[in-house]
Amino acid sequence: MTHRDDGRPVHAAIVGWGKCLPPAVLTNRDFATFLETDDEWIASRTGMRERRISHVPLGEIIHVAAARALACAGMSADELDLIVVGSTLGDEVCPNVSSGTQKRLGARNAAVMDVNTACTSFLYGLSTATALIRTGVVKNALVVGAEAPSPFMDWENRNVAVLFGDGCGAVVLKASTKEEGVLAERLGCYGESRSILDIRGVGARYANQGIPGGYSSWSFDGQEIFRKAVIGMTQASLEALGKRGLAIGDVDLMIPHQANQRIIDAVGKRVGIDPGRVFVNVQKYGNMSAATVPVALVEALEEGRVKPGATLLLPAFGGGLTWCAHVVRWGERTTPLGTSSVSLSPCDRTGLELVNDLRARRARYHQAAAPFIEAARHLLDEPAA
Ligand code: ACO
Repeated sequence: MTHRDDGRPVHAAIVGWGKCLPPAVLTNRDFATFLETDDEWIASRTGMRERRISHVPLGEIIHVAAARALACAGMSADELDLIVVGSTLGDEVCPNVSSGTQKRLGARNAAVMDVNTACTSFLYGLSTATALIRTGVVKNALVVGAEAPSPFMDWENRNVAVLFGDGCGAVVLKASTKEEGVLAERLGCYGESRSILDIRGVGARYANQGIPGGYSSWSFDGQEIFRKAVIGMTQASLEALGKRGLAIGDVDLMIPHQANQRIIDAVGKRVGIDPGRVFVNVQKYGNMSAATVPVALVEALEEGRVKPGATLLLPAFGGGLTWCAHVVRWGERTTPLGTSSVSLSPCDRTGLELVNDLRARRARYHQAAAPFIEAARHLLDEPAA
């Protein structure tokens, strides 16, 4: 940790926050029009009632959330030193998503990097940016958690299709001598379990920008993910608190990764926190992967659940199987300094119409590509020379 001239350590306070949820809603009942499922099964197994489906590329959603976070912080884009985008299913791999964010914002002085640790990407990004501020490499940073699984989703696979939604949240960090921002964290990964959450064929440019949705396959061992998620999030929470000599009773609000209401309940029970001090919005948005924690943080602020000086606990897990928890000290300000005029283009379709378009596109692509895929499979089956 670097120190100011007066000898005080530098911290990375959270001074801005913003979210962007695309407007089109897909309800559990909508799924029942094309999958063998129903509202009761989805709601009782996951807590989810509806989720958002984006009508625009992820980069545009990020732009809106980022502009709102900057306005909230009272900062202009060219003041930014660093942009970290945490995402698994970005529009592109190369060039990366964060360079697109820099361009859209006009943040020409910012260094950029993408972080992909699946659903924990925002929190791993928060650690990265905090460390770069503490060590004096940068003075501020925009940290984004963003995900748009819908273009890559296998909509015919009820095991996974019902679980996810699109959205983005962002925060702005600034060097501060006050002890704010991340106080402690524990990052980890069960690499031996990486195959239990396996997504293939993603990371191509968004379907409307030249390359069709294409092949993607989603393979989840839901029950094993559930078990590992609960163990990892619990362990990380207790270890992160322990690093600062804190107990669960010191936590004012837990804002966990929103993958499943039952996972959140199980973690809450194991760490011993009162359910009234746990923030949940999974019913509205489903699992937005890297976006769940920052969106939930923004909504907790909007609902007045984050008080000045509050101690927050942010546990999460994701593919890999990564897991982590962050203890965050909030500052004095819980309201935005300003608002942004950046907004999404209007959407004239329902969530179901958007999904049916994606399903039709995917079916056409599969039909056209089937002979080539078959040929490739034959080649792959041949023993290596
Ligand atoms: N509607 C109806 N039935 C379904 C659906 C659906 N949408 N999806 C699966 N089923 C069926 C399965 O086919 C299976 O049927 P079978 O028993 O006849 O084979 C049965 O339901 C499975 O039931 P359960 O095993 O009791 O389901 P469970 O209670 O484990 O819930 C769930 C499944 C929600 C996936 C749960 O295991 C879970 O939340 N797992 C972890 C979370 C997860 O995998 N999230 C993915 C994101 S990963 C991340 O956030 C990093």
